[in-house]
Amino acid sequence: MQSNSDPRIINPVELRVENISKSFGAFKALHDVSLTVSLGKVTALVGPNGAGKTTLFHVIGGNLAPDTGKVILNGTDVTGLPPYKIARRHVGRLFQDVRVFPALTVAENISVSFLHRSDYSLMTTIAWWRREARERDRRERAMKWLEFVGLADKADEPAGELSYGQQKLLALARIVALRPAILLLDEPTAALSPAMTKKMVALIKQLVAEQKLTTALIEHNMGVVRELADYIYFLHEGTVHTHGTQKEVLENPAVRELYMGLSGGMAI
Ligand SMILES: Nc1ncnc2c1ncn2[C@@H]1O[C@H](COP(=O)(O)OP(=O)(O)OP(=O)(O)O)[C@@H](O)[C@H]1O
Ligand SMILES: [Mg+2]
Repeated sequence: MQSNSDPRIINPVELRVENISKSFGAFKALHDVSLTVSLGKVTALVGPNGAGKTTLFHVIGGNLAPDTGKVILNGTDVTGLPPYKIARRHVGRLFQDVRVFPALTVAENISVSFLHRSDYSLMTTIAWWRREARERDRRERAMKWLEFVGLADKADEPAGELSYGQQKLLALARIVALRPAILLLDEPTAALSPAMTKKMVALIKQLVAEQKLTTALIEHNMGVVRELADYIYFLHEGTVHTHGTQKEVLENPAVRELYMGLSGGMAI
């Protein structure tokens, strides 16, 4: 865990998007979306399938350029920067589809990210590696985060042999090992068992509490949203339909109607 005496600790960062629109051909996936992900809080993005939630993360993460609007990190306009430059600004992203290197061991999946570390300059990487090598062994650092997610005993197994849920925990460990200030979590509990869901929720809670991570959480499981969210945006057909506290959004009759109507009776 980070501590305040750690010189590399990253201060919490606020994330704002302003008037983002994004079309695919004639289809408007996002239309004039503005929202704030507040410092050290969990902000949930909820809404039916196809509402534009992941598209918004693609825009924030630099994978997609918006047609209009701005992405602002701590007051700086970062719109259109490529993903590695966004990552360098301490943004960690857990993708909707699990992304681990199946042929590498579980520990290597983490330590390899220390080498690449969101920077493509070879000289910078070598210089960084030398500095890091003096400070601490990479494996030791990887092990710390594997212990955090409960996968230390699997460190030397190929990541491809982990269960789906364990791969998701590994993906989380790899992200937090890079010490983000902002987390973008796209359905972290999707397709997880109830036990794994509980574990993932507990880990996210711990990260937010101990490291004051500013977190944007896309989630369909309303139990998870109720456990984690400080603030909620309900997206519908590419726009922010409603936003507010849990009570204001989840008990809003229009939201319930739209979500249940469009999500096949999802209980909220
Ligand atoms: N590259 C693309 N080309 C064309 N259409 C796209 C593209 N990416 C997304 N879309 C469309 O944009 C809409 C929003 O997709 P998006 O993935 O953002 O939804 P979502 O809210 O994340 O949904 P889910 O809850 O199912 O993950 C969908 O109708 C999708 O089909
Ligand atoms: Mg999505």
